[in-house]
Amino acid sequence: MSDLRKDCDYEYERVDDIPTNPSTAPKIGDIITARLSRRGALKGLGGGAVAGAAVVYGAGQVQAMSHGTHSSLGFTELAKGYDEAHAVAEGYEAQTLIRWGDPVVPGAPAFDPNTLTAETQLQQFGYNCDYVGYLPLPLGSDSADHGLLCVNHEYTNAHLMWSGVTKENAADVLTKEQAEVEMAAHGHAVVEIRRSADGKWSYDPNSTYNRRISALTTELELTGPAAGSDRLKTSVDPTGTKVIGTINNCAGGKTPWGTVTFAEENFHGYFTGNADGHPEEQNYKRYGVPGGWYVWGNYHSRFDINKEPNEPNRFGWIVEFDPYDPNSVPKKRTALGRFKHEGANTIIDKSGRAVVYMGDDQRFDYIYKFVSNGTYNPDDRAANMNLLDDGVLYVAQFDEETLTWLPLVFGEGPLTAENGFNSQADVLIETRRAADLLGATPMDRPEDVEPNPVNGCIYAMLTNNTRRKEANVVNPRVSNAHGHVLEMIPPGTTAGGSAADADHTATEYTWSLFVLGGSPAEHGGMYHPAITENGWFSSPDNVAFDKKGRIWISTDGSPKFGFADGVWAADVSGEARAMTKLFYRCPTGAEHCGPEFNTDDSAYFVAVQHPADDSGSTFDTPSTRWPDFVDGVPPRPSVQVIVKTGGGTIGDA
Ligand code: FEO
Ligand code: CA
Ligand code: CA
Ligand code: CA
Repeated sequence: MSDLRKDCDYEYERVDDIPTNPSTAPKIGDIITARLSRRGALKGLGGGAVAGAAVVYGAGQVQAMSHGTHSSLGFTELAKGYDEAHAVAEGYEAQTLIRWGDPVVPGAPAFDPNTLTAETQLQQFGYNCDYVGYLPLPLGSDSADHGLLCVNHEYTNAHLMWSGVTKENAADVLTKEQAEVEMAAHGHAVVEIRRSADGKWSYDPNSTYNRRISALTTELELTGPAAGSDRLKTSVDPTGTKVIGTINNCAGGKTPWGTVTFAEENFHGYFTGNADGHPEEQNYKRYGVPGGWYVWGNYHSRFDINKEPNEPNRFGWIVEFDPYDPNSVPKKRTALGRFKHEGANTIIDKSGRAVVYMGDDQRFDYIYKFVSNGTYNPDDRAANMNLLDDGVLYVAQFDEETLTWLPLVFGEGPLTAENGFNSQADVLIETRRAADLLGATPMDRPEDVEPNPVNGCIYAMLTNNTRRKEANVVNPRVSNAHGHVLEMIPPGTTAGGSAADADHTATEYTWSLFVLGGSPAEHGGMYHPAITENGWFSSPDNVAFDKKGRIWISTDGSPKFGFADGVWAADVSGEARAMTKLFYRCPTGAEHCGPEFNTDDSAYFVAVQHPADDSGSTFDTPSTRWPDFVDGVPPRPSVQVIVKTGGGTIGDA
């Protein structure tokens, strides 16, 4: 039991040997194999660095591309490494903007690592920062030097927060007070930030915009088709519309109307109890509930599925909230489905509808999109605030040529009473099972799925899937340890096209593989021939696009291969398409999360998550005390802001 209490990613390595998806639909790797087996021209490509000829797979065709090396990214590539400190490309500097424990709510006490309490933690920056959003101030402006920084706090590492706690003993030794510190350290934070005349960024600890959302005390509202369902009712909430807390808040996104959408990912890990014979047994087993990663259920009975049987149905949603109103009630938008949401990224289609792209981060789970019924009104913010409550949720099914979006609509196809669905609420609560029945394509762990605002194509980070047993031409390894990046192409645009022409409401797209993770020298396959030894990455996770549409791929998993996680950037079209270059790397044990640019790309924000979470590290003997490097002060997850020395556009020469 106690060895289950590990961080998100290590836990995945274990639980992913027991995928919860029983579907027998073809896996994406099988499809790629089939697609390539028909392409004799590709047979010579296994060697990797084929001068002047790499491939782009798109629209059912293979295009020979003339590959030069002229990237629009003008920075000198950083060298890989793995040490106590972080590092950024020459000519850039990183500074700490806010750390775990820093005061957030006005009047909050200073961080004291030796006396953590839930009361203080509720007022301070939470643990394990993940999603980062920059929203300009004032609302409606495009200010590049003044805004709100909106940050998720995904999970906690008790062994790095308290002396005497290890990954092995945490389940046995953590007290109620410590569990409540953990609950207070989850959720989200908003702080007002500003760049001063000398170019330095800071946050204002006295701003009235500052707030904390937590798993312990924040009341959220359930909205949309599943709100009020009997399956969402509990002893303390007979309405099925009010939930205390949000958990495992991983990635997220911003909407054009100035709200933040953030995910509830591994919600199963917070519940304890026994699902055998449970009224929700089929539902819960598909999501791995109860995961038993945390002891909260020992002290708060709502996390025990045998005491509060419907509570897990109230988690696994996308939360939307208005950071410009510090009193706004965050909403769990049930229309966007319930699964292990990595994030949610919204784009306004040319029809005016809001389209949200999302991934379900588990091996063999799916990619989704939501299309609103209503349209975005740029002149009336209030009219947009509930757009995400009404629309159609789709799941992705790939074949050799196309991507088909299958609607998850109650009463259509297999989504009927015969299969246990009696309403749209049922379809949304059991999104995964509904998608299984439709024949969605099981993927290699979809993390961020994000539209590029310049070309309108959507890029999915498929982080890895070591269960792959069969090698193939484009994925020539016995298991997909390094993941890949998939490019989804709506009608009307291309990698070199314009977002304004893309039809995100269409039900048929094309797709291509953008790049595979892993070393070209070791694995061969689909790489730009000019990618250097520092330029290949492993395990793509989050992603951001700069104003030129260049892709910034953020990783989680490199330490297994001897180098730190970080961010690799590339052009998406032209001769240096997918020629990735390392820009920044994290300190030992950390993962690179939530990259975000300000409105003119003069600042790049990164959440450095779980520093020192590597083998043997504890509170007393961490592998790094980054970023403070003060004896007795533990490593602190923090948001860094990276700028060009002397100012200028990130990435440009
Ligand atoms: Fe929390 Fe899928 O990363
Ligand atoms: Ca992630
Ligand atoms: Ca992102
Ligand atoms: Ca990950």
